[in-house]
Amino acid sequence: MSITINGSPIDVPADPRVSLLDLLREHLHLSGTKKGCNQGACGACTVLVDGERILSCLALAAQYDGREIVSIEGLAQGGELHPLQAAFIEHDGFQCGYCTPGQICSAIGMAAEIARGIPSHVTGDLLATTMDLTHDELRERMSGNLCRCGAHNGIVAAITEVFGQGGADVTPVLVSEETAA
Ligand code: FES
Ligand code: FES
Repeated sequence: MSITINGSPIDVPADPRVSLLDLLREHLHLSGTKKGCNQGACGACTVLVDGERILSCLALAAQYDGREIVSIEGLAQGGELHPLQAAFIEHDGFQCGYCTPGQICSAIGMAAEIARGIPSHVTGDLLATTMDLTHDELRERMSGNLCRCGAHNGIVAAITEVFGQGGADVTPVLVSEETAA
């Protein structure tokens, strides 16, 4: 049994009680993914599994045999930061930085959800297949990621720059004029 983590195959721990978060942090020493609450309430441990965001503190590593995990360490490519990482720096999207890896992984997963037309609690037209990344959509969809430092305005600005209209070609997501204002 093996899991691909940031492009490398990793043996699944023999102990089935090991969480995906502890596999990353304690076994592989990938300490970018943070343990905040360890009970699914803060989003600090968010990683991507086959492109979808999950809370790694609530996941058992053994469940992810054959899956592809990307943590914050896997986002930079060829020595270049992921555009969202660069935008967080530019927009002061972090203070202590503890929540930042989870925020960034979560935002990437969120953008993919919007691109696939998956509605949220605030989406008006549940039958729409395309939707805009409005402020309301962004705040609702990122509400599972808490920042105790209160860097949310910078976080929103960074995500809007990258995934909004005219942003980087990471994921094709539209943004309304109201959001861009
Ligand atoms: S550590 Fe996983 S949600 Fe808080
Ligand atoms: S930057 Fe400190 S918790 Fe978010």
